[in-house]
Amino acid sequence: MSEWETVKGHFLDLGLRDLHKCFNLTGPQMQHIAEKFHQAMLRGLTEQKGPLKMLPSFFNIPTGEESGVFLSIDFGGTNVRVSLVQLLGQGKIRVLKKISAFLKDPGGSYDYTAATATGGELFGFLAEQIAELIGVGETIPLGLTFSFPTEMQALNKAVLIGWTKEFNTLLTVGKDVNLLLHEALQERGLYGIKPVAVINDTVGTLMTAAYSNPRADIGSICGTGHNTCYLERQPPQEPHPMIINIESGNFNRLPANKYDRYLDLHSEKPGEQMLEKMVSGRYLGALMRLVLLGLIRKGCLFQGVSRKMVDFLSQAKNLDAEHISLVLGDNSPGFGETAVWLKDATGARDLAQHELQALKIIATLLTTRAARLVAATYAGVLGRLDPRLKRPHIIAIDGSLYEKMPGFASHLEKGLDEILQNSSRQVRLKLVKDGSGMGAAIAAAVAVAPG
Ligand code: GLC
Repeated sequence: MSEWETVKGHFLDLGLRDLHKCFNLTGPQMQHIAEKFHQAMLRGLTEQKGPLKMLPSFFNIPTGEESGVFLSIDFGGTNVRVSLVQLLGQGKIRVLKKISAFLKDPGGSYDYTAATATGGELFGFLAEQIAELIGVGETIPLGLTFSFPTEMQALNKAVLIGWTKEFNTLLTVGKDVNLLLHEALQERGLYGIKPVAVINDTVGTLMTAAYSNPRADIGSICGTGHNTCYLERQPPQEPHPMIINIESGNFNRLPANKYDRYLDLHSEKPGEQMLEKMVSGRYLGALMRLVLLGLIRKGCLFQGVSRKMVDFLSQAKNLDAEHISLVLGDNSPGFGETAVWLKDATGARDLAQHELQALKIIATLLTTRAARLVAATYAGVLGRLDPRLKRPHIIAIDGSLYEKMPGFASHLEKGLDEILQNSSRQVRLKLVKDGSGMGAAIAAAVAVAPG
């Protein structure tokens, strides 16, 4: 390394140290967040106030013996998935057919997630996917996983409280989303498809895990968005145990730094979903772009090619959670995969090794903090469920971050171990792939069961 390289490296080093201070989350901080989260849950449950909405789902966990054939629609991330599912009882599930479609056309011809579409159009699109999977003329109960905060008024009546994850489809807030689906099905002649149940994706994940293992009592999504639900044994207004959708992405007693504040200020809904903006796939790319732009402006990174890099990083679509995955998973000599990505995308050649390494360090800082924040909230939920951890618990998790982001799952587990210490052996984290969608079929089975 030349002397100049060393000096540049030194600046970068200082920049990274500063970032470490911004994004590092200590054990005591996690403990503190866990306690605050627990308190916020109690407040949401008893007073319906504070950042946690604690929304009743009206569902208990399933017995594992529900059976039959059901349709499920999983809506709430980048795509919609429709599946025909057979529940076989004894915790066994078989997917008979499935399709998925983007809610936003990568080619730009439609976008059902933005204010360019109405709720009617969005649900029309969902109904078309159903028609494509099973055709008109079938009679079958359907469960809808709708991954946004809704006020449940019955098993099949869910009023959208507000969009999250930067969705903005018109004429949907305040409406019963199941009715919108029902109307769209009728309009397309799908008279035999009966939308009998609506659930949140966290609830679907928990129901899927509990279908085969009754120890599952927490469900969570770590993907485009982030949220957790749990089985509340004594809901204040109900005589029976019920799954509660915490809407934990809106938790806000958190150590936000200048990047978090900037991101929040420039989001669709400033002041809302603070936890989600710090931990979920929808926002991690934006955080990384802000951090990199900051380092470039300070002259710590990409000096010879700063113009190209600034142009590149100024566009949201150029760096998302998948690129962070690529950087984190790049174990090639000299970070070759990261170099190829950046060269192809920006034209910048000969990026220095220590700069590519810096990218990996930053990606690690962001995702480690995300995983530790999530761990702290899980500890908060366990505090409500079983403060002394006398029983075993399974936390069922679905979502691309948990499944695919290198290091995320292990940091989450380590973070939880750090908070719970010896009692952590009572808690197991479990990946429940496509749990959110399968859960809709189970919910439909519960809804149509006699009694
Ligand atoms: C957002 C939604 C929430 C959902 C989560 C994961 O936080 O508000 O309902 O569960 O994303 O998809």
